Amino acid sequence: MFARNCWYVAAWSHLLPAGTVIGRQILDEPIALYRTESGALVAMEDRCPHRLAPLSLGCVQGEQLQCRYHGLTFDMAGRCIGVPGAEKIPPGTNARTFPVAECDGWIWVWLGAPGAANEALIPRGFDLADRRFTMRYGEISYAADYQLVNDNLCDLSHLDFLHKTTLGGATAGGWSDQPPRVTPLERGVHIERWLKDRPVNPGGTDLTDIWSCYDFSAPGILVMRTTFYPRGAAERCGLAAPPDDLAPLLRRVDQQAVTPTGKKSCTYLFAAGFEGMTPSPVAMERMYKIVMDAFAEDRTMIEAQQRIWDLTPASRRNAFLPSDKAPHLFRKMLARLINQELKVSS
Ligand code: FES
Ligand SMILES: [Fe+2]
Repeated sequence: MFARNCWYVAAWSHLLPAGTVIGRQILDEPIALYRTESGALVAMEDRCPHRLAPLSLGCVQGEQLQCRYHGLTFDMAGRCIGVPGAEKIPPGTNARTFPVAECDGWIWVWLGAPGAANEALIPRGFDLADRRFTMRYGEISYAADYQLVNDNLCDLSHLDFLHKTTLGGATAGGWSDQPPRVTPLERGVHIERWLKDRPVNPGGTDLTDIWSCYDFSAPGILVMRTTFYPRGAAERCGLAAPPDDLAPLLRRVDQQAVTPTGKKSCTYLFAAGFEGMTPSPVAMERMYKIVMDAFAEDRTMIEAQQRIWDLTPASRRNAFLPSDKAPHLFRKMLARLINQELKVSS
């Protein structure tokens, strides 16, 4: 089951220039995303009403999309406005469209009740086009239930083990010593913690205190700040959130989205970088390599975990650790959203 009344990240905005179309899949729905020649964005079912050819193989003509197979033409509302060889438009030739939005470098699609598509529900991240941020982006696919990826992102204690030589190694551990502070939100969870006496640079001897703080929001959006302060800051702040006027040494930012393509497949779009500074190309490359190596470790583990879940009866209970609080709360919140939708539709 999926929550449908959510904005799902479909693609990076800058990878869809005017006059182009791409095919994506979200919640088992094939979606054609096209940008008209004047720059407007359309999300249409990727399924021509004639013989079900993918419209993402079609061509954008001005503000319209034409199916490449037999030439049906659709306007931005999905209305068929041209049928080769027919004087009148036959019935049953319109394509469904979906609410679509662009925000913080991503294209978002709403697959739920169209009347409920409120852009205020989009979790805000860091705008890739904003010059305050220097970020690199990427995308990987998972052959796994997206909720396993969400669990992974809600519980970073695994950095000390799965990512011992990558992300966990960069801070010389410290992620599993004690559980973070977790606060439930209406549509997500907020997770924060201090890591004390950690290296400023991977493998270095200069030490720092790191404030890690993120929201993880429905359906699977992570927006994280990792801020480095002079050593001793954690104690001076009483282990509470650092005040705005406490000058950091370095600000790292991460923005990630988990989008289910089907029941046991998902796509993971991410950007990682720095705020308020332009790192050297070497530092940027080193950061990105650590992130990419860690994501490969996550994928190997989560896909292997999925195989075992598939062999395990649903009645079997899993052990519950203190660090499971955030994944547990997040799954509970998502189940509540799904139940609310079921109640409304029954
Ligand atoms: S399948 Fe699209 S026009 Fe025939
Ligand atoms: Fe991970």
